[in-house]
Amino acid sequence: MVARIIDGKRLGAEIEEELKSRVSRMVSSSRAPHLVVVIVGDDPASHVYVRNKERACKRIGIRSTRYDLPGDSVQDDLVSLIQELNDDQDVDGILVQSPLPSSFDEIGITEMIRPDKDVDGFHPINLGRIVTGKTDGMLPCTPSGIMRMLESTGESLAGKKALVIGRSRIVGMPAALLLAQRGIDATVTIAHSRSKELELLCRDSDVLIAAVGRPGMVPREWVKDGAIVIDVGINRVKSEGGSKLIGDVDEGASEYAKWITPVPGGVGPMTISMLMTNTVRAAESRLC
Ligand code: GUN
Repeated sequence: MVARIIDGKRLGAEIEEELKSRVSRMVSSSRAPHLVVVIVGDDPASHVYVRNKERACKRIGIRSTRYDLPGDSVQDDLVSLIQELNDDQDVDGILVQSPLPSSFDEIGITEMIRPDKDVDGFHPINLGRIVTGKTDGMLPCTPSGIMRMLESTGESLAGKKALVIGRSRIVGMPAALLLAQRGIDATVTIAHSRSKELELLCRDSDVLIAAVGRPGMVPREWVKDGAIVIDVGINRVKSEGGSKLIGDVDEGASEYAKWITPVPGGVGPMTISMLMTNTVRAAESRLC
């Protein structure tokens, strides 16, 4: 079997088209949505991610403002800025780019952002809403992007075995909850660094979500024939001409899977589209 590609770039572009018309309606009735991105320090990868978010805002018509705090800033500097942004009626969404320098309490910062401006969906109130079955709010962007990609295949997940490899607060855990929610109805297993017999778990899974950040950690032979594979890993590795991006799943898995996401061009663009969706939704609930 040669897998069909779940094209995150194309799907993301479709979502952007729909957002553009919602934004233009808002512009005619009040104002454009406004996203504020805060970045601390000079981590090169974070700067690339932030630039991509700013470009997406521009394409859709969302106003974006960026605050660059120097690497030697302290927690209190960021706390004061967030308090100001929380109170600012002209700001709809606040995103603090991760990772913060190690001296910061990143979870504490996440908890300071007003939940209705938390376009990352990382605030405990927004994560907790998923447990209660409410999926109409600020959902974390990568997990909601994964769900949109799965939906686009038209495959029913009801009763299927889904394996999520990785238990992070912002990808693995919420993705597992979304897969198990009523109406989706997958039977979900979460695997992590202490899991035994990962190969057997993979071979038995109809849906495989790899979110670990370890290049090629799932060999092609572990993928069940006809499985759906969502590869969240974006790993930069050395190659002949310099470097390239590869996922957590061996590229050759497309010989086994029925559907697979490419790296790059899969989950990455969908994460940005979901951030844009959350920003428009946050603005609509304030202004409409
Ligand atoms: N760093 C890498 N991905 C993300 C993301 O989705 N949100 C934030 N805030 N930081 C990130």
